[in-house]
Amino acid sequence: MKRPKRKTVNSGQYLLFEDLIVDVVKIEEDMKEEQPSLLQKYPTKYTPNSNVGLDTNKIYCGDTVETMKKINEESIDLILTSPPYLASIRQDNHKYPGAKDQIKDNQSVDDYLEWIVENFKQYERILKKDGVIVFNFSYTTFNPSLPYFLINEVFKHTDFRVYDTFAWKKKSAMPVSGHPNRVTRIVEMVYIFAKTPYFKANKTVSSVSRTGQKYYNNYYNFIEARNNDGKVEGHEATFSTDFASFFIDLYSKENEVVLDNFSGTGTTPYASSKMNRQYIGIDLVEKFCDYARKRISKIYKEEGISH
Ligand SMILES: C[S@@+](CC[C@H](N)C(=O)[O-])C[C@H]1O[C@@H](n2cnc3c(N)ncnc32)[C@H](O)[C@@H]1O
Repeated sequence: MKRPKRKTVNSGQYLLFEDLIVDVVKIEEDMKEEQPSLLQKYPTKYTPNSNVGLDTNKIYCGDTVETMKKINEESIDLILTSPPYLASIRQDNHKYPGAKDQIKDNQSVDDYLEWIVENFKQYERILKKDGVIVFNFSYTTFNPSLPYFLINEVFKHTDFRVYDTFAWKKKSAMPVSGHPNRVTRIVEMVYIFAKTPYFKANKTVSSVSRTGQKYYNNYYNFIEARNNDGKVEGHEATFSTDFASFFIDLYSKENEVVLDNFSGTGTTPYASSKMNRQYIGIDLVEKFCDYARKRISKIYKEEGISH
């Protein structure tokens, strides 16, 4: 099978950490081509910061579990995140070439699942009773059953249950051309976890019967959204602002607190700021944290809002 050639810098097979090109302007140009409408639905203003153990409206550079331990019990309204997919079993499939030494995206399945459960135990502690986790997770050709093992471990070790599953159809996908029987993964799954069936959502009412029974507008468990907001060298696993804004709009209200404990390039914090929510972003890699901070402060600079 002929593999696509990877970009080579400094004679290494991968981009070196120092070689990351942080190009916020490029990303914003890409975004201009197709402005996500939901970003305009809410006023851009600086959302007041509340202390939920950690100050909101900040990106914290550190380990996910250790940082979440500092967040107060039942203080988070929405968790919108996408963890590393354990995709780097082969060295030539690294999703974080800019942070290859830091991100262990090639650990054993057992260690990985144990780590995911540790994250969910923190979610169980910090999420409000009626809060929601929007968990984007997919599979590789090497381990297609992993999502089911992951969900089973979460069910075994926490009270979370899955109340909806969305299919996210991306604009493009790498063709799976070297397999006689496996198909190209143009769709990823998004699992809606909550503590109870009474979690909150912003479905709008279409009519109310004489007896007071409410009927809601139709919402599908399907979203079509761009893969990402443009290429960020060194990070090959980002999602897009139109993806994030769809879930922020459905599962949170203005001023509420949105957490992304794997915030990467800051897509969730960026969309949350634009949509007048408070955010907490956590990522292990300083370079990605810096990128996210720059991206967000640009919003306020452009709007002339002090923060
Ligand atoms: C799938 S990416 C998320 C990308 C993000 N949604 C975006 O749009 O940029 C997963 C992120 O998890 C981060 N990560 C991996 N291990 C971590 C850890 N132990 N603590 C915090 N972040 C970690 C990686 O640096 C990476 O940015």
